[in-house]
Amino acid sequence: MLNVKITGTGGYLPEKIVTNKDFESTLDTTDEWIYARTGIKQRHVIAKHETTSSMAEMAANNALEAANIDASEIDLIIVGTSSPDRVFPSTACILQHKLGAGNGPAFDVQAACSGFIYALGIAHQFIKSSGAKKALVIGAEANSRILDYTDRNTCVIFGDGAGAVVLEAADEPGILSTHMHADGQYQDLLYINNPIKDQRADGENSYMTMHGNDVYKVAVKTLSRIVDETLEANGLAKSDVDWLIPHQANIRIISSVAKKLKMPMERVILTIENQGNTSAASVPLALDLAVRDGRIKKGDMVLMEAFGGGFVWGSALVKM
Ligand code: UT7
Repeated sequence: MLNVKITGTGGYLPEKIVTNKDFESTLDTTDEWIYARTGIKQRHVIAKHETTSSMAEMAANNALEAANIDASEIDLIIVGTSSPDRVFPSTACILQHKLGAGNGPAFDVQAACSGFIYALGIAHQFIKSSGAKKALVIGAEANSRILDYTDRNTCVIFGDGAGAVVLEAADEPGILSTHMHADGQYQDLLYINNPIKDQRADGENSYMTMHGNDVYKVAVKTLSRIVDETLEANGLAKSDVDWLIPHQANIRIISSVAKKLKMPMERVILTIENQGNTSAASVPLALDLAVRDGRIKKGDMVLMEAFGGGFVWGSALVKM
């Protein structure tokens, strides 16, 4: 049977750091509130000359180097993003040109914070059906460009960055399963209006709006369910998972899911304190961190999960 392996990972974070303290002079907030309610201390913010595709390019080059392959060998690019450079062409097309990748398909997946998991799931199926042999799957977000910096409910939470993986067709097991779901009834709890002025409701802006507490409650329930679904689909027990890589939205959500998995926090890869919530980039950035610092090793069983606006949620079980 044709398998799909992750053969390289990469990440990129912009140089500029904004700390919780930095918000205290412009917003009715405190470092204590933000850290206690979210687990965030700081986040990275993109420079004026940077874009989602330029961050994706840095992450992709890291991943290509780790996989020891040339961009010209890539025959599929999928970018998960909700903050693309342009409405069209896709960030993936722009990236393909920047990298000098092959002329296979390149497209974006818009699944909010689950964008990387969705992109991974699609690439997995694509390679299994022999549609491609070597793929780049990326989560990249310039969240700071879609935030209202007077809205303390959102602007303190999110950060910018990009994470990437190279996937290759392989003989040995790699991605064991991917799972994706959506429920559009929750569309008004977390959204960004269309940036095209004529398609917005009167008087509305196109910044991110989040009803955080309502999102929180559904996220905890839903993520616990998808962990069970993923393990059941593979006939595995909770104890078979070596590492949990959660979407980094809130340390309290992450701890609840880890508890349900009976996973000690030392086995959970965390980036939230230093990176905040980078939406679609958070899972691949955390994976890259743990691969590069040597925690995640070849053969380890890794469970990734994410949840975001839609709502959309998903998971992937991967033997590294
Ligand atoms: O990544 C995509 C999915 N997103 C998520 O999963 C996010 C899920 N939600 C959350 O992480 C949390 O709901 C937040 C961190 C966003 C908010 O924490 P919370 O404990 O749910 O707070 P809350 O929204 O219930 O607000 C409690 C109070 C409110 O004041 P009142 O009405 O009680 O007077 C807020 O206005 O905290 C206030 N508040 C703040 N205070 C200081 C909201 N934001 C801030 C702030 N600083 N930055």
